Amino acid sequence: MPQPSPAPRAAPHPVGPAFSGWLPGVDGICYGGDYNPEQWPEEVWAEDVRLMREAGVNLVSVGIFSWALLEPQEGCFDFAWLDRVIDLLHANGIRVDLGTPTAAPPAWFFHATPHARVVTRDGVTLGPGSRGMVAPSSPEYRAAAVRITTELAKRYGTHPAVALWHVHNEYGAPVSDDYSENAQHAFRRWLLERYGSLDALNAAWGTAFWGQVYGDWDHVQVPAATPTTANPAQRLDFARFTDAMLLECFTAERDAIRTHSDVPVTTNFMAAACPSTDLFRWAREVDVVSNDHYLTAADPRNHVGLALAADLTRSVAGGKPWMLLEHSTSAVNWQPRNVAKRPGEMARNALTHLGRGADAIMFFQWRASRSGAEKFHSAMLPHAGTGSRVWREVVQLGADLGRLSELRGSRVRADVAILWDQESFWAQDLEWRPSEDAVPRERVEAFYDRLWRDGLTVDFAQPGQDLSGYRLVVAPASYLLRADDAANLTAYVAGGGTLLVSYFSGIVDEHDAVHAGGFLAPLRDALGLTVEEFLPLRQGDEVGLAYGAEGRELTGTVWADDVALDGAQVVASYVDGPKPGGAAITRHEHGAGTGWYVSTRLDVESLALLMGDVYADARLAPSGLDEDLEVVRRHGEAADYLVAVNHSATDLKLPGQVAAGQATDLLTGEPVTGETPVPAGGARVLRLPR
Ligand code: GAL
Repeated sequence: MPQPSPAPRAAPHPVGPAFSGWLPGVDGICYGGDYNPEQWPEEVWAEDVRLMREAGVNLVSVGIFSWALLEPQEGCFDFAWLDRVIDLLHANGIRVDLGTPTAAPPAWFFHATPHARVVTRDGVTLGPGSRGMVAPSSPEYRAAAVRITTELAKRYGTHPAVALWHVHNEYGAPVSDDYSENAQHAFRRWLLERYGSLDALNAAWGTAFWGQVYGDWDHVQVPAATPTTANPAQRLDFARFTDAMLLECFTAERDAIRTHSDVPVTTNFMAAACPSTDLFRWAREVDVVSNDHYLTAADPRNHVGLALAADLTRSVAGGKPWMLLEHSTSAVNWQPRNVAKRPGEMARNALTHLGRGADAIMFFQWRASRSGAEKFHSAMLPHAGTGSRVWREVVQLGADLGRLSELRGSRVRADVAILWDQESFWAQDLEWRPSEDAVPRERVEAFYDRLWRDGLTVDFAQPGQDLSGYRLVVAPASYLLRADDAANLTAYVAGGGTLLVSYFSGIVDEHDAVHAGGFLAPLRDALGLTVEEFLPLRQGDEVGLAYGAEGRELTGTVWADDVALDGAQVVASYVDGPKPGGAAITRHEHGAGTGWYVSTRLDVESLALLMGDVYADARLAPSGLDEDLEVVRRHGEAADYLVAVNHSATDLKLPGQVAAGQATDLLTGEPVTGETPVPAGGARVLRLPR
């Protein structure tokens, strides 16, 4: 059987959009939210724009779910109401982020095209009456989506109010995988294009195992429910295919817009929250990266998750300014317990996004809906009206962002990168892995949290991209690691970088096949070892480690390895567990750099000891600030800016050396010298002297 050729992959460079402009006509930081005037009688609109002006709103997202109103019957369009809305906003100096309404096709579409509905893996056909329930590979859906988009682009493509195109809504949500007949045909076409021949497909999927060899393209199926686990390479390709179908829907609409309009195009991502889209790929296709973020209410440290999502968004944008297109003023309505934001929390959230590179702070939504599924969701203008705390905070935030206009366009720089490879998550998240407790996202979040607590700003990076600008690269979960990406990491170390790799990395290639030479073989040179055997632990079991010359005690959980050393120095050994005396943490010098390997799960506190030594190799040091004081710096052309957010209930101080010289507090306009207090639950934004 022929060997599979390396599967084609989008070129890793460049990272982020090619477009380097910004929204035409929007000065300063964008502020506003989703605006759904069609849910209200027209007399409310005048009050809306008056209050928008009071709140400092300069941009609203319009028409995201308006397809049924804009095209009430197939091919019959009614733009009169939208004309009036856009003209009203324009007359009041509020710019428009104009939605294409294709996330919610009208009832007539489903009536005429029932086979465009999504079929789940278990064979259930999803009904209409909701949103986001169309098979992305349906040709009828694509044609209808391009038709309404074209009509919108023709009508509003040069309207002076329109500053941005908002294609669709959150591709990949609420459903992404589709196992319908449409998907079946499209999957075969996609595979044929990718592999060229059945021999290549059989080799890539390893179909000799369990007798799955295909002799006819018509026999190849989408990986719907199977009696026992399905072919993992097939499922990995299905994840790639699903992503590709969604992306094709986006680019079709984007291209239809570009025929009639020069206004930049975005689609709202859900960085870190939507597993079905490979955002590094998507970011190359948009003009401006935008993101939606909602706190996990159950997590008391959810501001760390927020920072991670913001850093990931900036990273997929290649460091360019990005837009927070949705977050909430207070509670959402779709989590088990929808905790309301506490006073000041919305501003802390908003300023954290801003500090991490967002040049737009927007919400879902402007005015709370009286009807429908989201009536208990918070809004800028809540049901309680303008007498409410939320409204007062919305007005205050608008005024504050107005004072921060000069931050627009400034950039965040990071010395540390955490590797993020969506394909690896897709592969590792399949069934029959050595331990269900080895969860890739958990490791990413743990290392991110450690770096967050140590005050080190983090980028996310793909394993194949140019890493030479980073002092430290952390690979918490690189289960799938292509040979060329491993070579890139090895070259990074040889060139002087510090690489830290966590367990269950470097295991399989792009077809989910174990690397020739065994586990971790592609990183043998960089790390000075391979893994002979995985030694996962029983649920709840712990393993003791003796760390360093003093044998300091650490505890690992979930995982251990039987490591085959090949030059690496043992920094910590197991004192008990499945391999007492075996290497647990290693350090290896390769070329001008260093490769670290940690073979067990350390919690965020235990990671401090290890990271202290890793930082020393990378010539980095923790900021030394209080753990609850989040500080990020943005670099502008004329000045640098420090955004400091106090997440604790106690007043904290920014030491004098952080803002050395005379800084200006942009929120108060006051000069600041020496130690700067950051009040409990408050934030400061300083312009730093150069
Ligand atoms: C987003 C979605 C919005 C709204 C919001 C509620 O995911 O884009 O339309 O539903 O959630 O939190």
